[in-house]
Amino acid sequence: MQNDNLLRDGSGVAMLFSEIFGYSPTLCCFAPGRINLIGEHTDYNGGRVFPCAIHLGITAAAAPRCDGTWRFYSRNFQSDGVIVWDSTSWKSDGRWTDYPKGVICTFIAFGYSLPCGADVVFDGNLPDGAGLSSSAALEVLTGTLLKELFAIPVTPQQIAVMGQFAENRFIGVNCGIMDQFASAMGRRHHALMLDTHTLACEYAPIDSSMVSVVIINSGVKHSLASSAYNDRRRECESALAALCESGEKIPSLCSLTPEAFEQRRQAIPDEICRRRAHHAVYENSRTLQAARALREGDIETFGQLMKDSHLSLRDDYEVSCEELDFLAETAWKTEGVFGARMTGGGFGGCTVNLVRPEAVTEFIAQITAAYEARFGIRADSYVVTPSDGARRL
Ligand code: GLA
Repeated sequence: MQNDNLLRDGSGVAMLFSEIFGYSPTLCCFAPGRINLIGEHTDYNGGRVFPCAIHLGITAAAAPRCDGTWRFYSRNFQSDGVIVWDSTSWKSDGRWTDYPKGVICTFIAFGYSLPCGADVVFDGNLPDGAGLSSSAALEVLTGTLLKELFAIPVTPQQIAVMGQFAENRFIGVNCGIMDQFASAMGRRHHALMLDTHTLACEYAPIDSSMVSVVIINSGVKHSLASSAYNDRRRECESALAALCESGEKIPSLCSLTPEAFEQRRQAIPDEICRRRAHHAVYENSRTLQAARALREGDIETFGQLMKDSHLSLRDDYEVSCEELDFLAETAWKTEGVFGARMTGGGFGGCTVNLVRPEAVTEFIAQITAAYEARFGIRADSYVVTPSDGARRL
């Protein structure tokens, strides 16, 4: 893993490319990971999300080839060596290259013809499987590379949509659009309020003199996370289908206000599906309230909404775990913390914490010590800067 500066200007990955392939790359690109401040598991329910791209991410160096072959190498998966793919067919082999391959196949499926293959080297400082969207970053990065290498006229938003398509159809995780959208469309010092129904997006400034965004990585990864994620999505779809059975046309769970949901909730016969729907509807409403609070500079209210979000993810959506609950609960009790919650899909991964800047050092020291005492795991922490989306370096 390279240091942040080498990653940010692409010189580190360009050097690595020359070492691996013996010639210089023609271009370098970067795509960031993301955190989500609030609006969890709403993006496949037509709701709002409030993520920001972060300064951690993945960098790639690439050069086109004279034939249709692709050669991939990653500093983060050195033991895999150079992976060669002739691009004639899609076949998952469960390795990290399923993601770039999936995006290449998606571009072709969307009608973009690629004149040749390329040699590509990746390098990143995003912890893998920590819920900071390393897979979406890899997808958006590949899309950005294809755009730049072959002068394909696609917008960052289209790259996000194709990244999600690759994840859904090739990787088999039925994720929403949030992660890819944040990685493609992030803006420095801003969070992004996205309406996942219309893809309309507004940027909300995060004032770093008032609040620091701190990530604590639980270090826990649950192996069944992607199948449990798909289960949640199916449960929401069943809830929506039950609500529509009366003949009323409801486009998505998040099109309902909490009041409208309360009037109809008994139409969902299954108790688990009802709780999932309850989470989606109320989380969407919390996200709208949180955006309003941030606009008004009311970080205390924002923090309370984050806490309510975590509790709902724990109790109604059941995607938290003991380690994330401990981290969130410890943060709620710590001086200088406005709000804390699990971030991302759940089942392990990270918490996001909004902390008074002068309290950050003490907060990190206290929470990592408490976590180590309880679980014997030394948690990594990152103070992240809301950052720009994917770009050519
Ligand atoms: C994962 C998915 C996103 C979103 C979150 C939960 O990160 O990739 O689309 O559903 O979980 O909010």
